[in-house]
Order: sequence, then structure tokens, then C-alpha cells
Amino acid sequence: KKSGPLAGKKVVVTAGGTVERIDPVRYISNDSSGKMGFALARAARAMGAQVTLIAARTDEAPPRDADIELVRVESAQDMYEAVTDRWADCDILIKAAAVADYRPRHSAESKIKKSGDTMTLELVKTTDILESLGKMKDKQFLIGFAAETGNAEYYAKDKLVRKNLDLIVANDVAVEGAGFGTDTNIVSVYDANGLVLDLPLVSKDEVARRVLQLAAERVAGALL
Ligand code: PMT
Repeated sequence: KKSGPLAGKKVVVTAGGTVERIDPVRYISNDSSGKMGFALARAARAMGAQVTLIAARTDEAPPRDADIELVRVESAQDMYEAVTDRWADCDILIKAAAVADYRPRHSAESKIKKSGDTMTLELVKTTDILESLGKMKDKQFLIGFAAETGNAEYYAKDKLVRKNLDLIVANDVAVEGAGFGTDTNIVSVYDANGLVLDLPLVSKDEVARRVLQLAAERVAGALL
């Protein structure tokens, strides 16, 4: 059993990019490497939490730590199911994963053959996992990420309210050193009252520690 500011707390972290199948060999995904989510899982563990890492497609292997429960998923729907399964006894949930907003309406069972000069893929909306959790929220502390390319503050605050989050971590992924694939990030964290943490370019490990410290203070505060 570990000690630390998150001892006794259950933390669920999602990481990576979801994979939405077109056919058995093709898919729609995004540039998430998984690094931000992995850093959060490691930091939560170091702070004493019991951690579940739900990882979609990632560039690197997830942390090898017997104390971090690893769940591999593929699509947004799989991630939705894995997260909701663990929701009831979760204390802090952090959605660092980049989840597809749309998936192909049909996923072909065998490889699609080349035919006409053009091809149209019809996409349908996926379930917004965070928004669904925000509606079910009870004791859970819910942290979302906002990956933006401009107007990060505006969009992040909108997501915080719309998805009923406790904190949102905004990163402008168009800025060098921030967002997808890098070992560093530049983030601003907001709660319902406004800016609560503004970090310059630092490692994703440092971002993870600072965000979890904020969560730990607030979750402990709520218990008093
Ligand atoms: O993995 P790395 O390479 O380290 O990159 C890190 C990162 C850029 C992926 C990460 O820092 C980040 O910003 N993650 C969120 C990416 C994202 O999907 O942002 P969004 O603004 O589209 O979504 C907002 C929030 O809603 C996110 O917490 C997302 O997980 C969640 N969401 C989105 C769509 C959906 N269907 N369900 C969701 O829960």
C-alpha cells in the first residue's frame, strides 16, 4: 500500500488516440502518442493512488508498472465502455486521450476493393465520453483536456461548462513543444471560476504532477 497525497484514491486515466475502423486494414485516428496520459498515470501512482490506465493506440508501450492496471481499447465506443465500467468507484478521472468525434457509419468486414475514381465515407458522431460522465457525476472529480489550434481559452471554458468538468487542461497544439507527440507541453488549467494554473513549456511529467497536485488538494478539501 502506498502513501502520498492520493493514497486510497482511485484514479482512472485515458491515453492515446482512438482507432475507428473503415475495414480490417484501414482506420481513422489522430496524432496522440499517449505520452501525456502515461505521464499522468505514473504521477498518480507516485502520489499513492490506485491507478487504471485505459489506453487506445499509442506510439510507445504504456508504462510497465505492476501497480498500474492497464486496459487496452481501440475505438471511442470501447473507451466509453471501459471508462463507464470503472466509473462507480472512481475518485478522479482524467481524459487525456484524443477521442474521435466521428467514426465511419459502416466498418467493412473485409478489405474494401479499389473501384471508382472517388469514394465517399459517411461518418457518424461518436458518444462524447466526458459529456456522458459529466451528466452522471456524483462524487467523482472530472478532468478533461482541450486540444485546440487557437482560441484555446474560449473553447476550453466552453468544454468545462458543457461537459460539467471540475478542471480543464487546455493545450494549444499548434504551438511548438505543446500537444501531440512531444515530451513537453504548455498548458493552462481552468475551473468554473477561471484560470487556476498557467504553465510555460515544461515536461509532460511536470504537467502531470502539477495537475494531480491541484486535483489532490481539491479532492481532499471536499472531504473536510
Ligand atoms: O498523447 P500525446 O501525444 O502526449 O498528446 C497529448 C494530447 C494533445 C492528446 C493531450 O494533451 C490532449 O489534449 N488530449 C485531449 C485531446 C482531445 O481529444 O481534445 P478535444 O478538445 O477534442 O476533446 C476534449 C475532451 O473531451 C478531451 O478530454 C477528450 O478526451 C474528451 N472527449 C472528446 C470526444 C469524445 N467523443 N469523447 C471525449 O471524452
